[in-house]
Amino acid sequence: MEIAGGIHWTGFIDWDLRSFHGYSTPAGSTYNSFLILDEKPTLIDTVKEYGYDEMLRRVSRIIAPEKIRYIISNHTEMDHSGSLPRILELCPQAEVVCSPQGAEELKRHFKRDWKMKVVNSGDVLEIGKRKFRFVLMPMVHWPDSMSTYCEPDGILFSNDAFGQHFASQERFADEIGTEVIIKEATKYYANIVLPYGGQVEKVLTAVKDLELSQICPSHGLIWRKSEDRRKILGLYKKWAAYESESRAAIIYDTMWHSTEKIANRLAWLLEEAGVITDKINLQHTHISDVMTAVMRSRAVIVGSPILNNNVLPSVGALLVYLRGLKPRNRFGFCFGSYGWSKIGFRWLEDSLREAGMDLPEEGAYFRFVPDAEEMGRLKRISDSVGKLVIK
Ligand code: FEO
Repeated sequence: MEIAGGIHWTGFIDWDLRSFHGYSTPAGSTYNSFLILDEKPTLIDTVKEYGYDEMLRRVSRIIAPEKIRYIISNHTEMDHSGSLPRILELCPQAEVVCSPQGAEELKRHFKRDWKMKVVNSGDVLEIGKRKFRFVLMPMVHWPDSMSTYCEPDGILFSNDAFGQHFASQERFADEIGTEVIIKEATKYYANIVLPYGGQVEKVLTAVKDLELSQICPSHGLIWRKSEDRRKILGLYKKWAAYESESRAAIIYDTMWHSTEKIANRLAWLLEEAGVITDKINLQHTHISDVMTAVMRSRAVIVGSPILNNNVLPSVGALLVYLRGLKPRNRFGFCFGSYGWSKIGFRWLEDSLREAGMDLPEEGAYFRFVPDAEEMGRLKRISDSVGKLVIK
């Protein structure tokens, strides 16, 4: 697992992970830790607490842990710092290198007085033939997040940025298939990084002039081919600017098939209007997969029946998630079926607005089962939505 001369991957492959705090991970994940051999051996990031034994085995095969002089903690979240307390017991000389926010957050988590070296953007740490240059990247995606650039190897240890949840023994994206890994990186961005476009742009500016040979995220596969690096950096630029495609996503749940009927008709009419449309039933699709479609789509069309004056819980969960992730530069449209009260639709509309979307058209809400005249009304709505999508 030597990814470059003297630089070893020492992480943990989480084959069985199926949910990462609510984000579905059918392909598992990895927590990437790297051991760099030099006069002052350095470990970059650790792994989840339950992956400690595997990480230690990988480290111990290469070096006696007590020789480690620095452990760089690029990010406090427990998938990367969970094994810090145990590994530090084995390397008493080691200093923990982190951002100022990282120092506070590590203290809040572990209540320990470790030897700390606090670094800021541009600071350099020499470990022998190599040196590290630090780039703080606050809110990509925690306040403490930072990346570490290793010279002269040209490797950027980017922590969560450019990551993907994918378990494999292969370490490089091109070994699995770049398109497969791009798909996972898209889902990762949509669910983890999406709210922080402005901060991502700052990171892209900060790393723009670095000579890169590899981008090593803390999850999943490494981007080593120059065309793959260009591709993922180009996608991050596009995603950070909240660009969308001329597509629509119809996302709904249904109780007695009326809302489904409206969803089906809208999907048909949008297809006729030339709009590529994803129709997503929340009974079958996890909200973290819905987010991948939302990130691509210019129109986010959400439908629900009314249950006890509210939308269905599945739709409620999606809206709460969307309000947090705030997919800007998109517009919304609401539809659904109701029996005697439409009040829940107000919450649906307000939630889409809170998620950062304009609602240029009035929602289509029909009592119990839509009739022919109501279904006919959807044509005008889909024409208008279609024009806004294709613009
Ligand atoms: Fe992979 Fe924010 O931790």
